[in-house]
Amino acid sequence: MVLNLFLCNLFITWYYLIENTGTSTEDSSEEEDEEEEEEENSAECGAEDDERGADSKDVKPEESKNGISGSEGAEAEPQASAVNGRDEPFKLCCEKCKAVRQTHGTELVRPQRMSKGRFQLQLEGEGTYECSVTGLVFEASERVLVRYSVLSWSKFSSFLPSSWKFAGPIFNVETVNKDASVLTSIQFPHSICLAHPEEDLTFNVLHIKDNRPLVEPTSDHTGSHVKWNVTSLSPVGPIIQKTGSVEHHGVVLVYKQLGGDTNNYSFHVYLATNSASDIKDISKQVRGYKNRYIKIDKPPTCKLEEGTYRLVSQPEGDIKPEELKFTLAVTKMKGYFEAFFEERPPFQLSLIEINTDETVWSATIREGDCVDSSEKKPRKRTDSGRQRSSSHSEEEIGCKRPKFHDVSDGVKSGKTQGQDLSEKQLLQIAHHLGKEWKQVAIFVGIETKCLDDIQAVENCVHMQKLKMLVEWKKRHSGKATAYHLWNSLKDLDFLPNEVHQKLEGMMNDQAAK
Ligand SMILES: *[C@@H]1O[C@H](CO)[C@@H](O)[C@H](O)[C@H]1NC(C)=O
Ligand SMILES: *[C@@H]1O[C@H](CO)[C@@H](O)[C@H](O)[C@H]1NC(C)=O
Repeated sequence: MVLNLFLCNLFITWYYLIENTGTSTEDSSEEEDEEEEEEENSAECGAEDDERGADSKDVKPEESKNGISGSEGAEAEPQASAVNGRDEPFKLCCEKCKAVRQTHGTELVRPQRMSKGRFQLQLEGEGTYECSVTGLVFEASERVLVRYSVLSWSKFSSFLPSSWKFAGPIFNVETVNKDASVLTSIQFPHSICLAHPEEDLTFNVLHIKDNRPLVEPTSDHTGSHVKWNVTSLSPVGPIIQKTGSVEHHGVVLVYKQLGGDTNNYSFHVYLATNSASDIKDISKQVRGYKNRYIKIDKPPTCKLEEGTYRLVSQPEGDIKPEELKFTLAVTKMKGYFEAFFEERPPFQLSLIEINTDETVWSATIREGDCVDSSEKKPRKRTDSGRQRSSSHSEEEIGCKRPKFHDVSDGVKSGKTQGQDLSEKQLLQIAHHLGKEWKQVAIFVGIETKCLDDIQAVENCVHMQKLKMLVEWKKRHSGKATAYHLWNSLKDLDFLPNEVHQKLEGMMNDQAAK
């Protein structure tokens, strides 16, 4: 009721966020990445560490660069992306929930960015303020400095009661040197499409307090936001209870691989809800890959239901996998389409829901999309490109990837120990291996001689793959867990994403025991 957001603006707003929460092209220094890691670790143990870190070093170095008045550096890119996002502004609106919105009364304010996904905002006095980057709306009873960061649901999904689903990004908000009660309410952006007002959706928030989940009521919701009376401050995000599928507003994130042959174009295409947490997870995953990627801004999709999607292209490219399941389940590795072209742009990409055959998203990637952003800051980009592709990349793979898993649920030890994989599990993995299975063999230490032997006695390719994995297990008895296999394969660039996911799933199951 006190919202002045137009849904179109909403999407554009989110576009700022997408860019801000990190693309692989941003001149992200290693330190910044470190800060983020720190921030995320501390978010698990409570807010105090977080705050101390912020006071001592986060703010100072960044402030001058990315301050409110800053009009250069990192600020330049969000603006550029917003322009991109405005390409076809009216298409960005979800036609269906136009009716459900807004009035006025909030002041749109621009926060200071402290590090990736971490912001600070000075609320000047009593009033209602909306953060122009995250879409958070704060209602304050007096002047207060607030700090907040976008968190990942993957850390909190185990707290999510069954039959509840996340409905938007999860944030950690703090008030600096003041009691939390100076914030009367916070409105969280949500990603649910409320096109069917007759459906009774119950919004709540999941509030993680002292490491315990509390489901708390909301006081109101609109087409774009969920309002929550502040009880105390610690990680909190909107959730809904609904059986059956829920329509979310979605985004399609397109990343282009950098480097390599200039005549080859390789893209990753991710589906996500229009939620900062989801988007941040993906940009983080992309940053963890050995290859470097740049994000290409394309208009988002209107709605995204859980379901199976197909990506098609014009001209026809090599797209893997053929179909991708989009689910709202919180997974640590997000699935994506890989599209490869051995010709030059333009490429038209379309996303089709396979049951209805409906095209839910379509975009044309032009030469300019691929070139422009990589030339915006040529000096820095080549710098980081060089670093990453040489010695640093080893380091990055070596220490970051595991960390990515470790921090996520606090049960790391379970993953490295645990049971050897059963033959049934190996079969499930073999099932997802394609023609790259021989490379897999080499990565896990099976010599080609041995492969020849397997092929000599076994005609069926599926069985050959299985036998190869069984051979690996035999040789690594006691150290043939999902983690060990995952660890051997993590540097294999073309490992099908399903295999990653399968292994992730097995590691989690094991850890849960
Ligand atoms: C939230 O606060 C408002 C104003 O103080 C009050 O009227 C409302 O009942 C509260 N809602 C909840 C769910 O606590
Ligand atoms: C890139 O394209 C060239 C032909 O232009 C091809 O020979 C090469 O295999 C391609 N690279 C990859 C990684 O597929």
